[in-house]
Amino acid sequence: MENVHVLNHPLIQHKLAILRNKDTGVKEFRELIGEIAGLMCYEATRNHPTVEVEVETPVAVTKCRMLAGKKLAIVPVLRAGLGMVDTMVSLIPSAKIGHIGLYRDPETHKPVEYYCKLPEDIENRQVYVVDPMLATGGSAVAAIDFLKAHGCKSITMMNIIGCPEGVAAVQKAHPDVEMYLAAMDERLNEHAYIIPGLGDAGDRIFGTK
Ligand code: PRP
Ligand code: URA
Repeated sequence: MENVHVLNHPLIQHKLAILRNKDTGVKEFRELIGEIAGLMCYEATRNHPTVEVEVETPVAVTKCRMLAGKKLAIVPVLRAGLGMVDTMVSLIPSAKIGHIGLYRDPETHKPVEYYCKLPEDIENRQVYVVDPMLATGGSAVAAIDFLKAHGCKSITMMNIIGCPEGVAAVQKAHPDVEMYLAAMDERLNEHAYIIPGLGDAGDRIFGTK
């Protein structure tokens, strides 16, 4: 699967080890989600096109490169995706932000949509969908379906922890989507939670349990 990238970087692995620990508290958990999102953003934007610009330094005129063409949009899947937004925006301040609200029905594990608001010109942007967890893939597929229905053509999915089931579901429904994961875990359990995973990302970011 050439458009699935698992970022086995030592800095990410170190932060993931702390993130997964059940004794890591809300403050540190939230900070780590942001830090990992920033490191992932660095890799996920590696092939973003650039254009040459002329810059006058205090001593000479030189040619530099800046982000080009299509502009970016960051679209967190609520709630947990919100935890990845701030660091990404600090790295790409010109990015616009959309929101897709989905929660998994506890019985069926299917995503239920409750809020969506996208930038007006979303169809002209390179869209980075962010959500810490990719479990069954239902939420990711629904979010991408929604973005494509709004004209988005260039979509990158960023998940901190995924599993083979979720990756396969996204690849089957949306083979054109580039996927970036900080870790690929083993499998899902009978409640569709990722094993070993980190538990419920939304609850750990927002301290709701
Ligand atoms: C979590 C997570 C993903 C989804 C992944 O959200 O943040 O959005 O589950 O599961 P899936 O791949 O099986 O769809 P959740 O539904 O728990 O909502 P929350 O962020 O509001 O807690
Ligand atoms: N959502 C989470 O927050 N964690 C999982 O393991 C699966 C879905």
